[in-house]
Amino acid sequence: ESAVWALLRGGGCLLACLLLFAPCRAGAAQRYTPDWASLDSRPLPAWYDEAKFGVFLHWGVFSVPSFGSEWFWWHWRAERISAYVDFMEKNYPPGFRYADFAPQFGAEFFNPDSWAELFEAAGAKYVVLTTKHHEGFTNWKSPVSWNWNSVDTGPHRDLVGDLGAAVRKRTNILFCLYRSVINSFPPPYLLSTYFHFKMEFFFPPLPSPPLPKINNFFKKYKPDIIWSDGDWEAPDTYWNSTEFLAWLYNDSPVKDTVAVNDRWCSGCSCHHGGFYNCADKFSPKTLPNHKWEKCTSVDTHSWGYRRNMNVQEIMDTPSIVKDLVQVVSYGGNYLLNIGPTKDGVIAPVFQERLLGVGQWLSINGEAIYSSKPWRVQHENESSVWYTSKESAVYAIFLQWPEDNSLKLVSPKTSPSTNVTMLGFSNPLKWKPSPEKGMTIALPFLPPSTLPIQYAWTIKLEGVA
Ligand SMILES: *[C@@H]1O[C@H](CO)[C@@H](O)[C@H](O)[C@H]1NC(C)=O
Ligand SMILES: *[C@@H]1O[C@H](CO)[C@@H](O)[C@H](O)[C@H]1NC(C)=O
Ligand SMILES: *[C@@H]1O[C@H](CO)[C@@H](O)[C@H](O)[C@H]1NC(C)=O
Repeated sequence: ESAVWALLRGGGCLLACLLLFAPCRAGAAQRYTPDWASLDSRPLPAWYDEAKFGVFLHWGVFSVPSFGSEWFWWHWRAERISAYVDFMEKNYPPGFRYADFAPQFGAEFFNPDSWAELFEAAGAKYVVLTTKHHEGFTNWKSPVSWNWNSVDTGPHRDLVGDLGAAVRKRTNILFCLYRSVINSFPPPYLLSTYFHFKMEFFFPPLPSPPLPKINNFFKKYKPDIIWSDGDWEAPDTYWNSTEFLAWLYNDSPVKDTVAVNDRWCSGCSCHHGGFYNCADKFSPKTLPNHKWEKCTSVDTHSWGYRRNMNVQEIMDTPSIVKDLVQVVSYGGNYLLNIGPTKDGVIAPVFQERLLGVGQWLSINGEAIYSSKPWRVQHENESSVWYTSKESAVYAIFLQWPEDNSLKLVSPKTSPSTNVTMLGFSNPLKWKPSPEKGMTIALPFLPPSTLPIQYAWTIKLEGVA
């Protein structure tokens, strides 16, 4: 075996030498070194900030019990939470193991093209799929997850590859991959203690033995984001995070396009990496000075599918749109999660929410995609939120004023200021307010626009 590795190392060195001495490599790109100062200096690829809205998918063996949350195994076997223990005792024979759920992960109705069509109709510009959650099960044929992956058992399909192919048929939407670095239980054994290990394609010592394996993964799936998670248990030296990122940025097949998040070590979150997720469902109260993303879930109780959802626990479309508006106004991206079922179905309630967001974006997307934060983020008790693009300023208001006249305080007008409402063709009448700002006469909205009842966009041109 060591002879094989030596050969591979030799090959790697040969390749590196060839690249180093290749004359006049186009645009001789900067090389990053495996330390945070260097890695943090890499600019995010421009596509990421422009995209603004993505769909997050938590899918795995936890989608089979579909009870509680995607942490089912941990809650049941490690924490022994009584609701989980009772659920298993009532519904499964004694001795039933978590691994026994895997054959029932059938994905019989998984139609990657209709999923991709739905995400596009939702207005999402990227999709982030779990390749492996904390349970360790991989949705592709990982060479180091023997018999605990979606090709050897369950659906017998490369779910990552199949969804990636369908998403890539659409030019407007990018394919991104989530991966947890921990395994809460390494199958096929059940350990009663929390156990994690570095392995697979990410964090073995680099660049020696596993590089070809890592490289193959990236060549095959070409993820536009590596959305890392589960990092909090150990420092970057344990995960070899900086070595991995240096390889990703310098030499990987996605080095020019890939974006990453910030979950690369205990203490990394909100401090290192590409865009910052900080905590799940992070909601800043002022404009952050670093590109960030809010990940949140339509089912407020879980990221994975739960059969025991109640409608009161599901975000409604107006709250999703309002959340999206606030995040974008604060310069963030919005990554909205849904959990597909074990059968490969996206529950109609999630489809309806996604299509509702898409409907809103089809009218108001001009104020969202590729926008930048304005000098003011919000006013009037957060009922008005601003974004900007080139010379235009967008005021997105979340409550329709009873007197049909919208008062904006922050814009500085001039006689050539023009005011329109997205989705409405005629210019709107306005006048400067006596103190500061402006008053805008809102149009009468015909019933055909009634589905959009929760956030409207005023476009201002010629304001400062
Ligand atoms: C990975 O981390 C270990 C422990 O910190 C270190 O000894 C090793 O050199 C690292 N691998 C690479 C390729 O830097
Ligand atoms: C604040 O917004 C509410 C709801 O749109 C509106 O009725 C009110 O007039 C606004 N107040 C000011 C000071 O603009
Ligand atoms: C406002 O509209 C008028 C008429 O179309 C146009 O001449 C003017 O340049 C516009 N002002 C701004 C700031 O775009």
